Amino acid sequence: MADQPYYLTTPIYYVNDKPHIGHAYTTLACDVLARFHRLDGDDVHFLTGTDEHGQKVEKSAQAAGVDPQAFTDQVSQNFRRLAEDMNYSNDDFIRTTEPRHIEATQALWRKIRDNGHIYLGHYEGWYAVRDEAFYAESELTKDDNGNKVAPSGAEVEWVKEPSYFFDLSKWQQPLLDYYDANPDFIGPDTRRNEVVSFVAGGLDDLSVSRTSFKWGIPVPDDPEHIMYVWLDALNNYQTAVGYPDTESSLYSKYWPADLHMVGKDILRFHAVYWPAFLMAADLAPPKRVYAHGWLLNRGEKMSKSLGNVVTAGDLVDRYGLDPVRYYLLREVPFGQDGYISHETMVGRINSDLANDLGNLAQRVLSMIVKNCDAKVPQPQALTADDTTIIAAATDVLAAVRGEFERQAFHRGLEAIWKIVGDANRYVDAQAPWELRKTDPERMATVLFVLADVIRRLAILVQPIMPDAASAMLDQLAIAEDDRTFAALGADPAVVPGAELPKPSPVFPRYVDDETAA
Ligand code: MSP
Repeated sequence: MADQPYYLTTPIYYVNDKPHIGHAYTTLACDVLARFHRLDGDDVHFLTGTDEHGQKVEKSAQAAGVDPQAFTDQVSQNFRRLAEDMNYSNDDFIRTTEPRHIEATQALWRKIRDNGHIYLGHYEGWYAVRDEAFYAESELTKDDNGNKVAPSGAEVEWVKEPSYFFDLSKWQQPLLDYYDANPDFIGPDTRRNEVVSFVAGGLDDLSVSRTSFKWGIPVPDDPEHIMYVWLDALNNYQTAVGYPDTESSLYSKYWPADLHMVGKDILRFHAVYWPAFLMAADLAPPKRVYAHGWLLNRGEKMSKSLGNVVTAGDLVDRYGLDPVRYYLLREVPFGQDGYISHETMVGRINSDLANDLGNLAQRVLSMIVKNCDAKVPQPQALTADDTTIIAAATDVLAAVRGEFERQAFHRGLEAIWKIVGDANRYVDAQAPWELRKTDPERMATVLFVLADVIRRLAILVQPIMPDAASAMLDQLAIAEDDRTFAALGADPAVVPGAELPKPSPVFPRYVDDETAA
């Protein structure tokens, strides 16, 4: 349906660190979905931003010797720059230190409090600053040095301070009911099962304020306390669409969010705490939370301390932006952990991009320029082979849509590349270079069909590789307005007689320096 609102969000990233490829990966997946939905005619709102409060950021600022606001101003810029460098099409960029967010989050607190779900108490227990999370003794293990660590490996410290609590324990049944009534709320299914059994095991009330440091949003009417950074951070999703003004046009259009995309490390916050906070404030929980896996470098999670951090810039400088965007979503099945490596990157660039799609476009367009006076040829009656390949390149959209709706990007891309393969086989079977001598009219028809199949493929890959797709569509003289999914099935497609520019390869081969030497 056209103009359907579609609101999707990335996690907001901690500003204690420079962005690396793991951060780029989550936002890339969202960017692809945002672009896909726009091409499908939806009214998209795509949000990303930075998480700027809490002890972890405060400590990083101290270590850098600057005050936290100046520190966050600076580090937040790195994430904005990442959005530009990766060609993300986010509609908004939120920072939790903005006045709009402080106001929205204090309003949420008041609402939950006035509804009777927050009480004053005393917290005593383990806290991991790196995760900004509380842990029970039973969840901890010991590291090689005998220190207690959280399941994530983060160091824990004993915290003892006055604290407000949220009555999370009372939300066990409403949450289980919500999961039950909304089977698509959590994806993938394995993660959904983990969350359901965690909640079924019982929930403790949650400490939602801190008093031992200052860098956070003051609790309304008790400024000795600052809010727990996760309550603050999660509410960014509402702030950006106008909360607390629930009557505003943005909020009424976009809330509840269609999708919160997160890494598997932060699913519990999004699939347990967040819907509980919202229900406690009489607000609707999001429609879906999807937890993807980790990108691993040489088999290990990337971290500053391991010294194996890869940045998006490192990859883009070496391989080019669109190839990196393609590779990250094609190589690793989304939802699972996966490795990235130079070898698999080069493999994808040279086979999927340069050989399969790039070469298809380059050889067909060159033949048209050379043999058809650089104009889209006029076709004769189409054969069954012609209509079959055109139909396949059109029908694949529905399959891709289905896969992308389940965040199975790798399978959506596989479906597109199956058509690329079919198109290459069609070229070989029809052998237009031979038809040139034996049957020029049939050659013209074959090249017309191929130009039209390439047009459809280029329209389909726009969300993944916007620049490369646009270059391909330019080479086919397709007008800007004719690049949506609605235009994909249009007939006539490429316009016979349209003049084409001289083609240049869109996907160059990657030649390894060492191999070349
Ligand atoms: N600030 C919180 C999120 C608050 S959302 C209301 C946070 N920030 S973070 O900077 O640590 O970013 C976490 C997210 O970055 C992960 O959930 C994941 O989406 C992404 N990734 C960070 N490292 C990653 C990999 N190595 N691989 C894949 N994604 C990873 O948690």
